[in-house]
Order: sequence, then C-alpha cells, then structure tokens
Amino acid sequence: MSNQSFEILRAYFEGVDERERSRDRHEQTTDVGVFVPCSLTYINVVLQKLIQDRVIDPTAIFLDAGSGDGRIVCLASGVYRIPSIGVEYDPEIATRSRRHIGRLRKLSLLDEIYPIIATGDFRRDETYEGLGINFGEIGTVFNFASNQREIAHKIAMQSPEGTVFLLCDFNSYGEQFDGLRFQRTMEEVEEYIDVSDPENPTKSTLFQNYHLHVYRK
Ligand SMILES: C[S@@+](CC[C@H](N)C(=O)[O-])C[C@H]1O[C@@H](n2cnc3c(N)ncnc32)[C@H](O)[C@@H]1O
Repeated sequence: MSNQSFEILRAYFEGVDERERSRDRHEQTTDVGVFVPCSLTYINVVLQKLIQDRVIDPTAIFLDAGSGDGRIVCLASGVYRIPSIGVEYDPEIATRSRRHIGRLRKLSLLDEIYPIIATGDFRRDETYEGLGINFGEIGTVFNFASNQREIAHKIAMQSPEGTVFLLCDFNSYGEQFDGLRFQRTMEEVEEYIDVSDPENPTKSTLFQNYHLHVYRK
C-alpha cells in the first residue's frame, strides 16, 4: 500500500475537480441520482483500516455501485491492488471514468490491476453478466448515498454470507437493511497523516461530513 500511489491519484483527481468546477460539472443530476464525487482522502483512510482489520478481503472483487468518474475504483485498484468494477448509469460520466483510467494507466498507477467500468444499472443482473461475472462473486460493495436501499436488498437476496457492504453517507448512524448485519461506523477515523508535502507530513483531521457504515451479509 503505497502513499506515493495515493498522492498521484489525489493530485490527478484534484486537477479533475478543478476542471469540472470550471465547467460546472462537479455535481450533476443524472437520470438515477446525483453525481457528486466522494472524498478520496476519507475513503483512502477507511479502506486502509478495513483491509488492516481484515474486514475487506483485497483479493475479492470490489464494486462501486454508481461509480461516477471512477475515482473510488481507481483508489481500490491503484493503491490497494484490489480487482474492481464500477457501474455507472450515465453514459457520459462512465466515458469520463474510462478516460481517467486510461490516463492513470499512462502514469503507471494502474499497471497490473485496473478497474473495469460497465455503463448500466447496478440493480440489474444483465449489467454484471455483460462483464462476464455474477453479482454473487463480488466480495465488497461500495455505495455513496445512491439508491442504497436497492443495492442493499440485492446483496441481501443474492450475495453469499460474508459479503461486505460499505455505505458512505451524511448520517452519523447506520440505517438498518433487512438481511444485512450492521457492523460499525468508521467514526474513529478522525485524524490522519497528511503527506501531500512529503518534506513536512502533518497530522490533519478528516472532513467529518462523511460517515462510512460497514455491513455484512
Ligand atoms: C453520489 S455519486 C458517487 C460517485 C462515486 N461512487 C464516488 O463516490 O465518487 C452517485 C453516482 O451513482 C450513479 N447511480 C445512481 N443510481 C444508479 C444505478 N441504479 N445504477 C448505476 N448508477 C447509478 C449516479 O448516476 C451517480 O453518478
């Protein structure tokens, strides 16, 4: 797990954010929700902790259900070498995410393992079949506050015992989903070492608007 890879990714998506803000595309309404990217810094810290604590199996497929511009799957594959797939409904945003993956591969961030993006609806089995996989093969499902009840229901109905559901939202408590067991909210992640200036790493506090809730089938 390399800080250097994370810094490449963070800097790349900071540039993306700047450009998209100037084009007024940083937040966009799509036919199925709203595209707004999650904080890479926050998700990096929680992923690292969940892998260390053996909650996430880094050899199992990671899905971002509603993958937007692809930053979370790039984090999973580029920094943690987790095989990942992203499913995004909006074709233009999905195309953008494939472009980012292509550019990050040129920067050698996604050399060995890189994310695969499907354009489609994460609620439908055909979307996964189109990628040659079965929904039940996915080990970890991430969702950033987008039709979360429906993906939680799909996991409860179709995934094997032990499948992990990571829901990031703005609630400090984890809502209940039938068929899934709530495990914890990553409240304890409040401080991290900011290495954006490698000469001068500092202790910083995370943006606490986000909360990541962990569930298991
Ligand atoms: C809040 S954004 C999160 C983007 C990304 N996961 C991140 O954290 O940076 C949610 C995205 O999910 C997509 N989405 C919502 N419902 C969907 C569905 N049923 N199938 C596929 N994509 C969906 C939206 O189009 C939007 O781009």
